[in-house]
Amino acid sequence: MTTERATHWDNAYANGDTTRSWYQPSPTTSLRLLEEAAISPAVGLIDVGGGASTLVDALLVRGHTDLTVLDVSAHGLDLARDRLRSRADSVTWIVTDLLSWVPTRRYAVWHDRAVFHFLTDPVETERYRSVLSEALEPGGLAMVGAFATDGPTHCSGLEVARYDGPTLAEQAAPGCDVVTELREEHHTPSGGVQPFTWVVLRRPVGHAE
Ligand SMILES: C[S@@+](CC[C@H](N)C(=O)[O-])C[C@H]1O[C@@H](n2cnc3c(N)ncnc32)[C@H](O)[C@@H]1O
Repeated sequence: MTTERATHWDNAYANGDTTRSWYQPSPTTSLRLLEEAAISPAVGLIDVGGGASTLVDALLVRGHTDLTVLDVSAHGLDLARDRLRSRADSVTWIVTDLLSWVPTRRYAVWHDRAVFHFLTDPVETERYRSVLSEALEPGGLAMVGAFATDGPTHCSGLEVARYDGPTLAEQAAPGCDVVTELREEHHTPSGGVQPFTWVVLRRPVGHAE
């Protein structure tokens, strides 16, 4: 499955990222959530399924010094690295399937825009929760954006799950406290509108595991 998934997503990025439905020139909502949570640029932040996202560019501008971008698509990450040129050297890039990843450290912030909703099999959502739990520091924040209940049923040719805030919180990171929940209407490059649900979740300091 890992190879199949990598091939699928490498193909999705074959003609670049700027015409893909999920592309956003500026990751406005993610930046707003980081500001509202007063996230220091010094803390460890991982963007899971970051692909070619412009979030990493914006975070470097924000002064972040401990950034990791993980994606199953080497091609997606190459697009980001090529765009950043030498600035890419200060970022840790991990090419792997999130579901088979074994984190070797913890992060203060876990960011996921439009990855969790591709997991439609309960075994995969369980694995996601387990990896998140291994990777997120106690007291850390998970920011997860997924299609809203009235959002698209498919993306990139794949079926997706759709979420309201409480369900997204419970499914992505049970046991964490909900800090923020909001709705975003993402405008695709082709002029469509895709409603997203975002949650910001805090892992309790005394959380077991
Ligand atoms: C819809 S795109 C969103 C990309 C990026 N987060 C953004 O907002 O622009 C989904 C991304 O998740 C990656 N992805 C999907 N399943 C994954 C998995 N199991 N492990 C790691 N990356 C995955 C894809 O390669 C792709 O880059």
